[in-house]
Amino acid sequence: MPPLAVLTAIDALRAHFAARLAASREPSAIAAELQNILSLLDTVDLGHADEKYLRPSAHPVIRQLQQTPPRNSEDSTAAIFRAFLPQLDALPWRYSYAPRPDAPDIGERMAWAELIGPIAPFKSAKVCLGLTAIGPRLLYPRHRHPAVETYLVVSGTAAWTAENTTRRHPPGTLILHPANIVHAMETGGEPLLAAYAWTGDVETLSAYEDVCFNPRP
Ligand SMILES: [Fe+2]
Repeated sequence: MPPLAVLTAIDALRAHFAARLAASREPSAIAAELQNILSLLDTVDLGHADEKYLRPSAHPVIRQLQQTPPRNSEDSTAAIFRAFLPQLDALPWRYSYAPRPDAPDIGERMAWAELIGPIAPFKSAKVCLGLTAIGPRLLYPRHRHPAVETYLVVSGTAAWTAENTTRRHPPGTLILHPANIVHAMETGGEPLLAAYAWTGDVETLSAYEDVCFNPRP
């Protein structure tokens, strides 16, 4: 895979986060976290890539993103989406949760591509940066992780749940998930492409909340 695709994606997201921080007029938890993310991204060595994580992965969810015309009314994220679309095949998509019997095909319908992090082409033990893709009509079930998570909706309006509150978030929305908050997303007719950043404990993986591996009648 040409590393250019990964670097292009990183540059586009950093620029967007910086612009959103500059546009924030009042102190807020999201503005503080954007500042934290940008400071940590400055410490990442983008001159050296781990080739092991630079192999394109022809994940099926990418076809769904490429085949569904984006209905994106937010200019800056529409530009990011258009820039990413031809490059999606070149990103290191994966799905690494343990199988769950109530969603046997979920690993074919959603994936994420980590660009910076402990398991990514560009290494950091302090910050992760990546993209999450979720195919249409899919529930990404309740899950949690100790990292603080910031999402940017790039394309697709999905239902986002954090603790017990559900909201539909259009492209351009920034969403902050504090450490260990239980959250979920559910798509409708259009797929979701969202960028994410993790800070704090980025080594501990996300885990599903409500998995019954031995269902009984
Ligand atoms: Fe999360």
